Amino acid sequence: MLRPSEGGIYVDGTFGAGGYSRAILEAAACRVVGFDRDRAAYEAGSALSAAYDGRLSLVNERFSRMDQVLQADGISQIDGVVLDIGVSSMQIDEAERGFSFAKDGPLDMRMGGDGLSAADVVNRAGEGDLARIIAVYGEERKARLVARAIVRARLKAPILRTGELAAILEKALGGKRAGRIHPATRSFQGLRIFVNQELEELAEGLAAAERLLRPGGRLVVVSFHSLEDRIVKRFFNSRARPAPRPSRHAPEAGEGAALSFTLLHKGAVTPGEAEISRNPRARSSRLRAAERSHAEAMPLDYAAIGVPSVGVNRGELLP
Ligand SMILES: C[S@@+](CC[C@H](N)C(=O)[O-])C[C@H]1O[C@@H](n2cnc3c(N)ncnc32)[C@H](O)[C@@H]1O
Repeated sequence: MLRPSEGGIYVDGTFGAGGYSRAILEAAACRVVGFDRDRAAYEAGSALSAAYDGRLSLVNERFSRMDQVLQADGISQIDGVVLDIGVSSMQIDEAERGFSFAKDGPLDMRMGGDGLSAADVVNRAGEGDLARIIAVYGEERKARLVARAIVRARLKAPILRTGELAAILEKALGGKRAGRIHPATRSFQGLRIFVNQELEELAEGLAAAERLLRPGGRLVVVSFHSLEDRIVKRFFNSRARPAPRPSRHAPEAGEGAALSFTLLHKGAVTPGEAEISRNPRARSSRLRAAERSHAEAMPLDYAAIGVPSVGVNRGELLP
Protein backbone atom coordinates (compact mmCIF):
# COMPACT_ATOMS: atom_id res chain seq x y z
CA MET A 1 0.00 0.00 0.00
CA LEU A 2 2.84 2.41 0.78
CA ARG A 3 4.67 1.63 -2.51
CA PRO A 4 8.07 3.10 -1.50
CA SER A 5 10.01 4.57 -4.41
CA GLU A 6 13.60 5.56 -5.04
CA GLY A 7 14.56 8.92 -3.58
CA GLY A 8 11.33 9.16 -1.56
CA ILE A 9 11.10 10.28 2.06
CA TYR A 10 8.87 8.21 4.37
CA VAL A 11 7.84 8.67 7.99
CA ASP A 12 7.47 5.59 10.17
CA GLY A 13 5.52 7.23 13.00
CA THR A 14 5.71 4.17 15.28
CA PHE A 15 9.27 2.88 14.91
CA GLY A 16 9.10 0.27 17.73
CA ALA A 17 11.58 -2.49 16.91
CA GLY A 18 12.01 -1.07 13.40
CA GLY A 19 10.24 -3.83 11.45
CA TYR A 20 8.29 -1.43 9.24
CA SER A 21 11.27 0.93 8.73
CA ARG A 22 13.47 -1.95 7.67
CA ALA A 23 10.88 -3.21 5.19
CA ILE A 24 10.55 0.26 3.63
CA LEU A 25 14.33 0.71 3.39
CA GLU A 26 14.65 -2.73 1.78
CA ALA A 27 11.89 -1.97 -0.75
CA ALA A 28 13.55 1.06 -2.37
CA ALA A 29 16.59 3.35 -2.19
CA CYS A 30 14.66 5.84 -0.09
CA ARG A 31 14.96 7.65 3.26
CA VAL A 32 12.98 6.89 6.41
CA VAL A 33 12.46 9.14 9.42
CA GLY A 34 11.38 6.94 12.34
CA PHE A 35 9.49 8.43 15.30
CA ASP A 36 9.00 6.77 18.66
CA ARG A 37 7.98 8.47 21.88
CA ASP A 38 9.59 5.59 23.80
CA ARG A 39 13.21 6.35 24.61
CA ALA A 40 14.12 2.64 24.80
CA ALA A 41 12.82 2.01 21.25
CA TYR A 42 14.63 5.09 19.97
CA GLU A 43 17.93 4.06 21.57
CA ALA A 44 17.68 0.45 20.44
CA GLY A 45 17.13 1.72 16.88
CA SER A 46 20.59 3.26 16.59
CA ALA A 47 22.08 -0.05 15.40
CA LEU A 48 19.57 -0.23 12.53
CA SER A 49 20.18 3.40 11.72
CA ALA A 50 23.95 2.74 11.47
CA ALA A 51 23.33 -0.25 9.19
CA TYR A 52 21.53 1.90 6.60
CA ASP A 53 24.23 4.59 6.19
CA GLY A 54 22.29 7.75 6.69
CA ARG A 55 19.05 6.51 5.10
CA LEU A 56 17.32 6.02 8.48
CA SER A 57 17.10 8.83 11.01
CA LEU A 58 15.34 8.47 14.33
CA VAL A 59 13.46 11.00 16.42
CA ASN A 60 12.40 10.50 20.05
CA GLU A 61 9.13 12.38 19.69
CA ARG A 62 5.40 11.84 19.41
CA PHE A 63 4.22 11.34 15.83
CA SER A 64 1.62 14.10 16.26
CA ARG A 65 4.60 16.46 15.97
CA MET A 66 5.96 14.97 12.72
CA ASP A 67 5.24 18.03 10.59
CA GLN A 68 6.89 20.46 13.04
CA VAL A 69 9.94 18.20 13.44
CA LEU A 70 10.43 17.69 9.71
CA GLN A 71 9.80 21.30 8.83
CA ALA A 72 12.43 22.37 11.38
CA ASP A 73 14.78 20.14 9.38
CA GLY A 74 13.87 21.83 6.10
CA ILE A 75 11.55 19.06 4.86
CA SER A 76 8.14 20.37 3.89
CA GLN A 77 6.74 17.47 1.82
CA ILE A 78 7.11 13.71 2.03
CA ASP A 79 6.04 10.66 0.06
CA GLY A 80 4.45 8.42 2.65
CA VAL A 81 3.55 7.89 6.31
CA VAL A 82 2.93 4.61 8.14
CA LEU A 83 1.42 4.31 11.60
CA ASP A 84 1.27 0.98 13.45
CA ILE A 85 -0.84 2.09 16.37
CA GLY A 86 -0.66 0.85 19.94
CA VAL A 87 1.86 -0.63 22.33
CA SER A 88 4.75 -2.75 21.11
CA SER A 89 5.38 -6.37 22.03
CA MET A 90 8.50 -5.15 23.83
CA GLN A 91 6.49 -2.76 25.98
CA ILE A 92 3.92 -5.44 26.88
CA ASP A 93 6.50 -8.13 27.52
CA GLU A 94 8.64 -6.07 29.87
CA ALA A 95 7.01 -6.17 33.31
CA GLU A 96 8.82 -3.02 34.47
CA ARG A 97 6.88 -0.89 31.95
CA GLY A 98 3.67 -1.70 33.78
CA PHE A 99 1.44 -2.48 30.76
CA SER A 100 0.82 -6.11 31.58
CA PHE A 101 -1.66 -7.67 33.98
CA ALA A 102 -0.07 -11.03 33.29
CA LYS A 103 3.34 -9.97 34.67
CA ASP A 104 3.65 -8.03 37.88
CA GLY A 105 5.38 -4.65 37.61
CA PRO A 106 5.04 -1.03 38.70
CA LEU A 107 1.69 0.48 37.62
CA ASP A 108 3.22 2.82 35.05
CA MET A 109 2.02 2.39 31.39
CA ARG A 110 3.72 5.54 30.09
CA MET A 111 5.14 4.99 26.61
CA GLY A 112 7.13 8.22 26.76
CA GLY A 113 8.09 7.93 30.44
CA ASP A 114 6.74 11.41 31.25
CA GLY A 115 3.45 12.86 32.55
CA LEU A 116 0.78 10.96 34.44
CA SER A 117 1.36 7.30 35.24
CA ALA A 118 -1.37 4.69 35.58
CA ALA A 119 -0.73 4.70 39.35
CA ASP A 120 -1.44 8.47 39.47
CA VAL A 121 -4.76 7.89 37.71
CA VAL A 122 -5.78 4.82 39.72
CA ASN A 123 -4.95 6.42 43.07
CA ARG A 124 -6.01 10.04 42.46
CA ALA A 125 -8.95 10.11 40.04
CA GLY A 126 -12.47 10.40 41.46
CA GLU A 127 -14.73 7.36 41.18
CA GLY A 128 -16.81 8.95 38.39
CA ASP A 129 -13.71 9.89 36.38
CA LEU A 130 -12.28 6.38 36.76
CA ALA A 131 -15.56 4.86 35.64
CA ARG A 132 -15.66 7.08 32.52
CA ILE A 133 -12.02 6.35 31.60
CA ILE A 134 -12.62 2.62 31.90
CA ALA A 135 -16.02 2.70 30.17
CA VAL A 136 -15.03 4.94 27.26
CA TYR A 137 -11.45 3.91 26.56
CA GLY A 138 -11.71 0.34 27.83
CA GLU A 139 -15.25 -0.31 26.55
CA GLU A 140 -15.81 -2.11 29.88
CA ARG A 141 -19.54 -2.51 30.52
CA LYS A 142 -19.00 -2.97 34.25
CA ALA A 143 -16.84 0.17 34.59
CA ARG A 144 -18.80 1.55 37.56
CA LEU A 145 -18.31 -1.68 39.48
CA VAL A 146 -14.61 -1.60 38.62
CA ALA A 147 -14.24 2.04 39.70
CA ARG A 148 -15.98 1.30 43.02
CA ALA A 149 -13.70 -1.68 43.67
CA ILE A 150 -10.60 0.42 42.94
CA VAL A 151 -11.70 3.25 45.23
CA ARG A 152 -12.51 0.78 48.01
CA ALA A 153 -9.14 -0.94 47.69
CA ARG A 154 -7.08 2.24 47.60
CA LEU A 155 -8.61 3.42 50.89
CA LYS A 156 -6.59 0.64 52.55
CA ALA A 157 -3.33 1.27 50.66
CA PRO A 158 -2.27 2.87 47.38
CA ILE A 159 -2.37 0.51 44.38
CA LEU A 160 1.14 0.55 42.98
CA ARG A 161 1.64 -2.75 41.11
CA THR A 162 -0.05 -4.20 38.01
CA GLY A 163 -0.51 -7.46 39.92
CA GLU A 164 -2.42 -5.70 42.71
CA LEU A 165 -4.74 -3.99 40.22
CA ALA A 166 -5.28 -7.24 38.28
CA ALA A 167 -6.24 -9.02 41.54
CA ILE A 168 -8.73 -6.24 42.45
CA LEU A 169 -10.30 -6.50 38.98
CA GLU A 170 -10.47 -10.29 39.12
CA LYS A 171 -12.21 -10.09 42.46
CA ALA A 172 -14.69 -7.46 41.22
CA LEU A 173 -15.49 -9.08 37.88
CA GLY A 174 -15.01 -12.75 38.62
CA GLY A 175 -11.91 -14.81 38.02
CA LYS A 176 -10.28 -15.94 34.79
CA ARG A 177 -12.43 -18.25 32.68
CA ALA A 178 -11.43 -20.52 29.84
CA GLY A 179 -12.16 -19.07 26.41
CA ARG A 180 -12.79 -15.54 27.78
CA ILE A 181 -10.47 -12.56 27.81
CA HIS A 182 -8.85 -11.90 31.18
CA PRO A 183 -11.18 -9.76 33.35
CA ALA A 184 -8.51 -7.05 33.60
CA THR A 185 -8.07 -6.65 29.83
CA ARG A 186 -10.54 -3.84 29.20
CA SER A 187 -9.71 -1.79 32.29
CA PHE A 188 -5.97 -1.99 31.54
CA GLN A 189 -6.65 -0.88 27.96
CA GLY A 190 -8.74 2.06 29.18
CA LEU A 191 -6.06 3.25 31.58
CA ARG A 192 -3.31 2.87 28.99
CA ILE A 193 -5.21 4.88 26.36
CA PHE A 194 -5.94 7.64 28.88
CA VAL A 195 -2.39 7.74 30.27
CA ASN A 196 -0.85 8.07 26.79
CA GLN A 197 -3.67 10.18 25.26
CA GLU A 198 -3.56 7.64 22.46
CA LEU A 199 -6.74 8.64 20.62
CA GLU A 200 -5.86 12.35 20.55
CA GLU A 201 -2.36 11.37 19.37
CA LEU A 202 -3.85 9.25 16.60
CA ALA A 203 -6.15 12.06 15.41
CA GLU A 204 -3.35 14.63 15.52
CA GLY A 205 -0.95 12.23 13.79
CA LEU A 206 -3.40 11.67 10.93
CA ALA A 207 -3.83 15.43 10.54
CA ALA A 208 -0.06 16.03 10.66
CA ALA A 209 0.41 13.39 7.93
CA GLU A 210 -2.28 15.08 5.83
CA ARG A 211 -0.38 18.38 6.06
CA LEU A 212 2.97 16.78 5.17
CA LEU A 213 2.12 14.43 2.32
CA ARG A 214 2.72 15.58 -1.24
CA PRO A 215 -0.01 14.96 -3.83
CA GLY A 216 0.26 11.24 -4.64
CA GLY A 217 1.84 10.51 -1.23
CA ARG A 218 0.31 7.70 0.81
CA LEU A 219 -0.91 7.28 4.39
CA VAL A 220 -1.14 3.71 5.71
CA VAL A 221 -2.48 2.98 9.19
CA VAL A 222 -2.68 -0.31 11.07
CA SER A 223 -4.77 -0.34 14.23
CA PHE A 224 -5.76 -3.00 16.71
CA HIS A 225 -9.10 -2.16 18.25
CA SER A 226 -12.41 -0.65 17.33
CA LEU A 227 -11.88 2.74 19.01
CA GLU A 228 -8.74 3.36 16.97
CA ASP A 229 -10.08 1.88 13.75
CA ARG A 230 -13.22 3.98 13.96
CA ILE A 231 -11.14 7.16 14.12
CA VAL A 232 -9.01 6.10 11.14
CA LYS A 233 -12.09 5.12 9.14
CA ARG A 234 -13.95 8.34 9.88
CA PHE A 235 -10.87 10.45 9.21
CA PHE A 236 -10.43 8.88 5.78
CA ASN A 237 -14.15 9.01 4.99
CA SER A 238 -14.32 12.69 5.96
CA ARG A 239 -11.51 13.38 3.47
CA ALA A 240 -12.25 10.91 0.70
CA ARG A 241 -16.03 11.09 0.33
CA PRO A 242 -17.97 14.20 -0.61
CA ALA A 243 -20.04 15.50 2.31
CA PRO A 244 -23.74 14.78 1.78
CA ARG A 245 -25.70 17.81 0.55
CA PRO A 246 -27.61 19.26 3.51
CA SER A 247 -30.75 19.33 1.32
CA ARG A 248 -31.55 18.76 -2.31
CA HIS A 249 -31.95 22.53 -2.73
CA ALA A 250 -28.38 23.18 -1.59
CA PRO A 251 -25.88 23.79 -4.40
CA GLU A 252 -24.03 20.69 -5.57
CA ALA A 253 -20.32 20.53 -4.63
CA GLY A 254 -17.98 21.23 -7.55
CA GLU A 255 -16.10 18.44 -9.33
CA GLY A 256 -13.66 16.80 -6.89
CA ALA A 257 -14.38 19.51 -4.33
CA ALA A 258 -11.57 19.72 -1.79
CA LEU A 259 -11.26 16.00 -1.07
CA SER A 260 -7.76 15.58 0.30
CA PHE A 261 -7.48 11.76 0.00
CA THR A 262 -8.55 8.89 -2.27
CA LEU A 263 -9.07 5.52 -0.56
CA LEU A 264 -6.72 2.78 -1.76
CA HIS A 265 -8.92 -0.05 -0.51
CA LYS A 266 -12.63 -0.23 0.17
CA GLY A 267 -12.98 -0.95 3.88
CA ALA A 268 -10.18 -2.33 6.04
CA VAL A 269 -7.62 -4.96 5.03
CA THR A 270 -7.50 -7.78 7.61
CA PRO A 271 -5.00 -10.62 8.03
CA GLY A 272 -5.72 -14.05 6.61
CA GLU A 273 -5.50 -17.31 8.56
CA ALA A 274 -1.91 -18.02 7.48
CA GLU A 275 -0.72 -14.66 8.80
CA ILE A 276 -2.61 -15.09 12.07
CA SER A 277 -1.12 -18.52 12.69
CA ARG A 278 2.37 -17.15 11.95
CA ASN A 279 1.79 -14.08 14.12
CA PRO A 280 -1.15 -14.42 16.54
CA ARG A 281 -0.77 -10.79 17.69
CA ALA A 282 -1.87 -9.71 14.17
CA ARG A 283 -5.30 -11.27 14.86
CA SER A 284 -7.20 -8.05 15.47
CA SER A 285 -5.26 -5.78 13.10
CA ARG A 286 -6.97 -3.64 10.49
CA LEU A 287 -5.15 -1.72 7.80
CA ARG A 288 -6.53 1.35 6.02
CA ALA A 289 -4.73 3.33 3.36
CA ALA A 290 -5.32 6.38 1.21
CA GLU A 291 -3.51 8.55 -1.31
CA ARG A 292 -3.15 12.31 -0.91
CA SER A 293 -4.67 14.61 -3.52
CA HIS A 294 -3.79 18.20 -4.46
CA ALA A 295 -6.50 19.63 -2.21
CA GLU A 296 -5.56 21.55 0.91
CA ALA A 297 -5.46 19.74 4.24
CA MET A 298 -8.76 20.00 6.09
CA PRO A 299 -9.22 21.24 9.67
CA LEU A 300 -9.30 18.49 12.30
CA ASP A 301 -12.66 17.99 14.04
CA TYR A 302 -12.41 15.55 16.99
CA ALA A 303 -16.16 15.01 17.30
CA ALA A 304 -16.65 14.37 13.57
CA ILE A 305 -14.01 11.63 13.50
CA GLY A 306 -15.14 9.99 16.74
CA VAL A 307 -12.47 11.00 19.26
CA PRO A 308 -14.37 10.54 22.54
CA SER A 309 -13.97 12.90 25.47
CA VAL A 310 -13.97 11.69 29.07
CA GLY A 311 -13.91 15.23 30.51
CA VAL A 312 -11.16 14.46 33.05
CA ASN A 313 -8.82 17.25 34.14
CA ARG A 314 -5.36 15.70 33.82
CA GLY A 315 -3.68 18.55 35.71
CA GLU A 316 -5.59 17.63 38.87
CA LEU A 317 -4.20 14.09 38.79
CA LEU A 318 -0.54 15.07 38.76
CA PRO A 319 1.20 14.34 42.08
C1 LIG B 1 2.93 -1.48 17.62
S1 LIG B 1 4.47 -0.75 17.95
C2 LIG B 1 5.21 -0.54 16.41
C3 LIG B 1 6.02 -1.72 15.94
C4 LIG B 1 6.78 -1.43 14.66
N1 LIG B 1 5.91 -1.25 13.52
C5 LIG B 1 7.77 -2.54 14.37
O1 LIG B 1 7.80 -3.00 13.22
O2 LIG B 1 8.54 -2.90 15.25
C6 LIG B 1 4.05 0.89 18.37
C7 LIG B 1 5.22 1.78 18.75
O3 LIG B 1 4.80 3.12 18.55
C8 LIG B 1 5.16 3.90 19.64
N2 LIG B 1 4.15 4.93 19.76
C9 LIG B 1 2.86 4.78 20.12
N3 LIG B 1 2.23 5.95 20.08
C10 LIG B 1 3.14 6.86 19.65
C11 LIG B 1 3.09 8.25 19.38
N4 LIG B 1 1.97 8.95 19.57
N5 LIG B 1 4.20 8.87 18.93
C12 LIG B 1 5.35 8.16 18.73
N6 LIG B 1 5.46 6.85 18.99
C13 LIG B 1 4.37 6.21 19.43
C14 LIG B 1 5.22 2.98 20.82
O4 LIG B 1 6.13 3.47 21.78
C15 LIG B 1 5.68 1.67 20.18
O5 LIG B 1 7.07 1.53 20.24
